[in-house]
Amino acid sequence: MKHDSIAVIDFGGQYAHLIATKVRRAGVLAEIRQPDDPTDMFRGYKGVILSGSPSLSAFGEDSEWNKEVFELDIPILGFCFGHQEIAKYYGGRVEHGGREWGLATLNILVDHPIFKGLEKKETVWMSHFDTVVAIGPDFCEYGYSKLGETGKEHRLAAIGSDKYRRYGFQFHPEVENSVHGDEMIANFVIEICKCNPTWSMEAYLAETVERVRAQVGDRSVFLLASGGVDSTVAAKVFGLALGADRLHLLHVDNGMMRKGESQRVLKMYADLGLDQNLHFIDATDEFLAAIGNETDPEKKRRAIGTTFVEVFDREAKRLGIESHLLGQGTIYPDTIETGGTKRADTIKTHHNRVPIIEKLIKEGRVVEPLAELYKVEVRELGEKLGIPREAIWRHPFPGPGLGVRLLCSNGVAPKDDIASLQAAVSPIAESFGLRAYVLPIKSVGVKADLRSYEHPVVLCGDASFEKLTEVSGNILKEVQGINRCIWNVMGDDPKTVEVVEGYMTRDRLDLLREADQIVMDALRHHHLYDCIWQCPTAMVPLKINGVGRELVIVRPIKSERAMSATAAELPPVVIDEIRRGIEKLPRISGLTLDLTSKPPGTIEWE
Ligand code: XMP
Repeated sequence: MKHDSIAVIDFGGQYAHLIATKVRRAGVLAEIRQPDDPTDMFRGYKGVILSGSPSLSAFGEDSEWNKEVFELDIPILGFCFGHQEIAKYYGGRVEHGGREWGLATLNILVDHPIFKGLEKKETVWMSHFDTVVAIGPDFCEYGYSKLGETGKEHRLAAIGSDKYRRYGFQFHPEVENSVHGDEMIANFVIEICKCNPTWSMEAYLAETVERVRAQVGDRSVFLLASGGVDSTVAAKVFGLALGADRLHLLHVDNGMMRKGESQRVLKMYADLGLDQNLHFIDATDEFLAAIGNETDPEKKRRAIGTTFVEVFDREAKRLGIESHLLGQGTIYPDTIETGGTKRADTIKTHHNRVPIIEKLIKEGRVVEPLAELYKVEVRELGEKLGIPREAIWRHPFPGPGLGVRLLCSNGVAPKDDIASLQAAVSPIAESFGLRAYVLPIKSVGVKADLRSYEHPVVLCGDASFEKLTEVSGNILKEVQGINRCIWNVMGDDPKTVEVVEGYMTRDRLDLLREADQIVMDALRHHHLYDCIWQCPTAMVPLKINGVGRELVIVRPIKSERAMSATAAELPPVVIDEIRRGIEKLPRISGLTLDLTSKPPGTIEWE
């Protein structure tokens, strides 16, 4: 079935993806297009939405994109930067207006289908520098806004021209803070673009099953089954389309999985009825041998990636993958070329580069049933297919697994001027009635889009979570050379801290697995698992006050797409439960909670 569809032009950041998911939620297929895509690529769409941009300004070079799109006889709606581009193109004027940011009231001045079903006053989210100050002859002001209760009035916050079928909103209807933003987007696609809302997960599934059957013919599919959401949903779709006997699954244990993870994954595939050709390889020894005594985070990652490629290549050949099609759980954001963090796909990139796979791709023998879907849609589909909730809603887990959570050291502390850092952080902590200790190791962070390796600070003392995050924010802002703040929740202040030797060994991984299990159990037990986006547990080889050799760090965060994150609060009873569990483990020197936002910290410790 051919669905009506909308093109969303991606001017950067994550806005376009948010808009596309909202359009799809209205039952209409949305596809991401780039600003310099040729005009012909836009023919066939029933409408176009121009996204906002976190960095572009409606002046100079930024404003150079394929404006021939405006000559197409289909409705166009723009948000923020897109709104300004529409205003300018049709004879209006844009000026640098000073930053406006926050919740605003939109006062709607017209009865127009784009506002169907809405009140005359709506709460919307504003975030912009430039502003439309004049509109062209065939445009009308549809609404003005007021920031906060008493904020200044912002004219031309919504504009439109029914003659050209061009509409613009200065605000961002796609973000949750715009209370009826979804309705505005739905009104545009249904009422203005006259789209037939036929896009649904049921329709997608039925069409994909047909597409997979047609592409695969009478052959079989070979799929890497990590147990992650995407590969699991893909496996189920293949099973449905082809029958489990024509699906080969390979699960690799790299030795850096969570406690019992591989067994759980294998059982899940069996429960899903997909275990006719389920292959498992425990490659722990091979991975650990490849990492050896490496302590450099990037080299560790590379060793893991390269070993994965070798194991995969060998197993695939052994299982005769050459005679199958290769199934991949690639999802929509992976298939379109936008900025995004490609680093998060290291492992996937490695798979894709295996010669055997490159050859299959060239021959058109790769089949990707989820390539048009966003993560939320993959989950929705997974639920429809009866995959257990636990598997669908599990926290993201990095490809290199616990490998990026187990810091390694040859026992030599970095030669930095810890005393100067200590002198800079202590007064800040003391002004809040707390104590601070700089640790003689480094973890990774992100500054101005680049990775930074800097020291963490341990805060000690009693304070509310708000206060702790405030102190943490102040230290991170004011002290160069510090990229993390953690809070001591077990034992004395770390007055003497010694870096000890610790490599990627089975016993350290086992200990981290136990610690991670304690944390995960506590989150589940207190029904917090679903409220927290991800909660890595990391371990650092440090002896503290002459005791133990492993400091445990728990990092509960709130996030949407991992691009940025803030620390999540754990209630005292949960911290107590975790403390009681960790205390019982051997070789532990302390327990801390990470308070750092991303940026300047990353989510993982390496
Ligand atoms: P960071 O640490 O960069 O993490 O803030 C952002 C998200 O990506 C995950 N992550 C990875 N995923 N390979 C992956 O597949 C990796 O090397 C990797 N490093 C980080 C991390 O768990 C978080 O969700």
